[in-house]
Amino acid sequence: MYFELAILVATALAWSASAGTTTTVSNWGDNPSNLPPPPCLYPFQTRHESPDRRWRAIPHQLHPCGGSGSQFMSEVGNLTTYADNLGFPILFPTSNAELGFNCWDCFSTKTLTHNGGGDSEGIAGMVSWALNQFKGDATRVFAVGASSGAMIGNVLAATYPNVFAGIAAWSGVPSSCWANATSSTPSTPDQTCPNGTKARTFSQAQWVNLALSSDPGYSGTRPKMLLTHGTADPLVSILNLNAELAQWSGVLGVSFSKNVTNDPTTNWKRIVYGDGTKLIGFEVEGGGHIPPFQWDATLEFFGLLNSTSNGSGGSSSSGGSSGGGSTGGCSTAQFGQCGGTGFTGCTACASGSTCQFSNPYYSQCL
Ligand SMILES: *[C@@H]1O[C@H](CO)[C@@H](O)[C@H](O)[C@H]1NC(C)=O
Ligand SMILES: *[C@@H]1O[C@H](CO)[C@@H](O)[C@H](O)[C@H]1NC(C)=O
Ligand SMILES: *[C@@H]1O[C@H](CO)[C@@H](O)[C@H](O)[C@H]1NC(C)=O
Ligand SMILES: *[C@@H]1O[C@H](CO)[C@@H](O)[C@H](O)[C@H]1NC(C)=O
Ligand SMILES: *[C@@H]1O[C@H](CO)[C@@H](O)[C@H](O)[C@H]1NC(C)=O
Ligand SMILES: *[C@@H]1O[C@H](CO)[C@@H](O)[C@H](O)[C@H]1NC(C)=O
Repeated sequence: MYFELAILVATALAWSASAGTTTTVSNWGDNPSNLPPPPCLYPFQTRHESPDRRWRAIPHQLHPCGGSGSQFMSEVGNLTTYADNLGFPILFPTSNAELGFNCWDCFSTKTLTHNGGGDSEGIAGMVSWALNQFKGDATRVFAVGASSGAMIGNVLAATYPNVFAGIAAWSGVPSSCWANATSSTPSTPDQTCPNGTKARTFSQAQWVNLALSSDPGYSGTRPKMLLTHGTADPLVSILNLNAELAQWSGVLGVSFSKNVTNDPTTNWKRIVYGDGTKLIGFEVEGGGHIPPFQWDATLEFFGLLNSTSNGSGGSSSSGGSSGGGSTGGCSTAQFGQCGGTGFTGCTACASGSTCQFSNPYYSQCL
């Protein structure tokens, strides 16, 4: 396994736990590079739909080389539990086998250009489909990728900054790092990107220009970035972590502020830029290729989870209620809505939970 990717289209609604459903998306529309149909995992819509029928976020998961969407779905551990508790569907895009090794195209001008006709455009097309299908919140679309999936994750951040609110890249390289190579697989003759040669020789200004040139003229909000890498990665040099941090700190306009050791777990180091809300790195001491996913830390960074307030679900409630309606001495069950613009229902929460602000349109009993 060399390279992987997934897309989360999140919702802020949490309900009692129950199994989700998997479907295959056979025709999502824009697909210039003929990507195969990806699996899509979604919690039961009736339980997770908000009263205004909008899903709150759409994550994608991006698989590594040698992988596929369905294979990656089996490797993301209990992310599916979070998806079910928090109520977001997940797309697992699958790359085109033509390149060999089932790697993502992270090298061609097509994929490195906004609407350039490559893999990045096909993935952005899947997001459009999912937003429509699940009535998602277009401001809360996230992608998590590993290896090749992390590389295309960086590419998506540069080519579709208007589509993604956040990207988590596990063992990746900066966007456009593979430019000039003839492919982006482990057998590509030019390995100067993954082996760290470009990371060592390119300046921060070069990385920033490469990222900005993928969608020239874009001036809107850009995705927050979480970049994880093991110091002992034998396939994709750890030097690429520094290069990614240089690229995105320049693009996002944040500078290094501090390192926090043993965060989020032993032997991991949180490298904080600015106030830590736009850009962080996780350097894993002695870690190899694709360190274990850290879903609490990742979903918190995305703003989908507040573990301090214990919003990850788990304890069951009566479920199914959208939490609106009652007045007077009312009480909204845990995970129900208790506030937000236009909300007219009960704002008191059942004992054991409190009303937590999620976004201007949604507060929830957690
Ligand atoms: C997922 O697994 C991790 C590691 O075992 C655990 O700490 C976390 O609580 C689990 N989360 C959920 C929602 O099951
Ligand atoms: C691509 O090749 C050109 C010409 O040699 C070089 O200037 C540029 O830095 C290269 N870009 C990358 C990302 O390798
Ligand atoms: C990186 O790969 C290139 C071939 O693409 C090779 O010439 C170079 O020696 C390698 N460098 C390292 C540090 O492995
Ligand atoms: C923070 O961690 C990075 C990555 O290990 C390291 O390069 C840098 O020197 C550290 N900075 C400080 C101030 O500790
Ligand atoms: C998480 O919840 C705690 C406790 O309610 C609160 O103090 C904190 O501000 C919340 N953090 C975020 C990022 O919302
Ligand atoms: C979250 O709440 C559940 C149920 O109330 C409890 O069992 C669990 O220990 C709590 N987890 C944390 C991290 O506080």
